[in-house]
Amino acid sequence: MTSVIRPEMIGDYASISKVNDLAFSQKNEGRLILALRKTREFIPELSLVAVVGGRVVGHILFYPTKIKSNDASYGSLSLAPMAVLPEYQKQGIGSRLVEEGLKKARRLGFKSVIVLGHAAYYPRFGFEPAGKWSIRPPFEVPDDVFMALELVKDGLKDIQGTVEYPPEFNDV
Ligand SMILES: CC(C)(COP(=O)(O)OP(=O)(O)OC[C@H]1O[C@@H](n2cnc3c(N)ncnc32)[C@H](O)[C@@H]1OP(=O)(O)O)[C@@H](O)C(=O)NCCC(=O)NCCS
Repeated sequence: MTSVIRPEMIGDYASISKVNDLAFSQKNEGRLILALRKTREFIPELSLVAVVGGRVVGHILFYPTKIKSNDASYGSLSLAPMAVLPEYQKQGIGSRLVEEGLKKARRLGFKSVIVLGHAAYYPRFGFEPAGKWSIRPPFEVPDDVFMALELVKDGLKDIQGTVEYPPEFNDV
């Protein structure tokens, strides 16, 4: 199946909400994206859609986040949410969204990405448990679902601390 991966456009907003509502069977993620889109930090080039036959069937968002320790703060990116319409899943569309997103993030100069997600899915893109770098989530989750990826060599070298999510994430 041929899918085109491209940055979101204004006309995609409703479809993006719908894809998230249907993939997650709840409206929280769609609402989160709407809220994040209104923030100054939102980067439209890192909100990607997968289009098949003119229809938006998948979406992924990378949003700037910070890794904070007592005396320092480092910029990173959070991968969330990502969704593919149920009838289009398991055909590689999610993988293409992740791969294109990582490439774009690297081009924009980001050095790392953090994800809280399925431990059996994200390692195939190079994600490893964030504990490897002493990077911690701001809440209790199993070690293997909180992962990080270096977009460039040593992108997380000497970086440690707690990931800070913007308040909009509290409602998900
Ligand atoms: C996760 C998701 C975006 C993947 O999209 P996709 O287009 O099906 O992804 P791909 O075709 O590239 O890869 C499919 C793989 O994802 C795996 N996968 C999907 N959901 C998974 C889960 N809950 N736990 C572990 N692996 C999962 C499938 O088992 C499949 O593995 P395989 O390649 O070994 O068979 C899609 O399943 C989805 O929208 N799920 C509901 C929303 C969600 O959970 N989002 C991610 C939050 S972390």
